[in-house]
Amino acid sequence: MKKVAFITGGNRGIGFETAKALGAEGVSLIIGCRDLSKGQGAAKALQEQGFQAESISYDANDKQAPDQVYRHIEKNYGALDILVNNAGMIMEDLIGKNSSTSVDQGILKQTFETNFFAVVALTQKLIPLLMKSTAGRIVNLSSIVGSLGIQSMENSPIEPAKAFAYNASKTALNAFTVHLAHELKDTHIKVNSAHPGWVKTELGGPYAPMEIADSYKTSLRLATLDKHGPTGGFFHEADTLPW
Ligand SMILES: NC(=O)c1ccc[n+]([C@@H]2O[C@H](COP(=O)([O-])OP(=O)(O)OC[C@H]3O[C@@H](n4cnc5c(N)ncnc54)[C@H](OP(=O)(O)O)[C@@H]3O)[C@@H](O)[C@H]2O)c1
Repeated sequence: MKKVAFITGGNRGIGFETAKALGAEGVSLIIGCRDLSKGQGAAKALQEQGFQAESISYDANDKQAPDQVYRHIEKNYGALDILVNNAGMIMEDLIGKNSSTSVDQGILKQTFETNFFAVVALTQKLIPLLMKSTAGRIVNLSSIVGSLGIQSMENSPIEPAKAFAYNASKTALNAFTVHLAHELKDTHIKVNSAHPGWVKTELGGPYAPMEIADSYKTSLRLATLDKHGPTGGFFHEADTLPW
């Protein structure tokens, strides 16, 4: 039987590329998109490549979304093998002024709402469906800028990346990865954080060195780990990143 994956924000950028890569592995794709017309276009593009794919409505800011997604997957698939928590956003400049003393409370809250609270709510709701899989995999799209170890090191390679709300939301997401992996350590579910690279998407901007076509690698690896694979880690491709 085909594995089933739910990928949030699967209509473009890293999410769409990850969906394509999972489709090529024979995984049945459900992409969650807040704009259904964009979602339908993306699902059609995936189907045209020969993949089994559909789009469903998923808006991280809609409190009903986790229930709706749960009901759809439960009714149509019965179980979920892979959850890629990919949808994310930034409201500050990724590179530039350190916004710690100035960030607006609204920006801080909205960023955490999408990048952290919504991920926790969706994941909690879908755990029972992942438990029904023989090998549930959860991939949290974090970022190297959420690494406190790398942020605080001398001559840090990410020294100019100090968008406080975004960075802190990814640090919080990493905390979820560690805690959830610990709670689920005696189950077959593996939970990991992914740093895809600095990617030339709308979020990453035009100066990012990585092309979108290469951005799926970390998510694909963590979504398809075998039973010997790690859980509770933070990875960029084959490398382990410090928290
Ligand atoms: N690009 C990078 O360099 C980079 C580096 C490290 C980590 N990441 C992480 O990788 C993930 C994907 O980023 P990306 O670069 O592919 O970004 P992107 O091209 O800007 O795409 C973001 C995706 O998230 C969706 N999204 C945003 N807010 C949403 C909401 N409230 N509800 C549902 N969907 C929402 C967008 O939907 P719409 O199309 O409707 O806007 C879009 O599908 C993010 O979590 C990001 O933080 C990116």
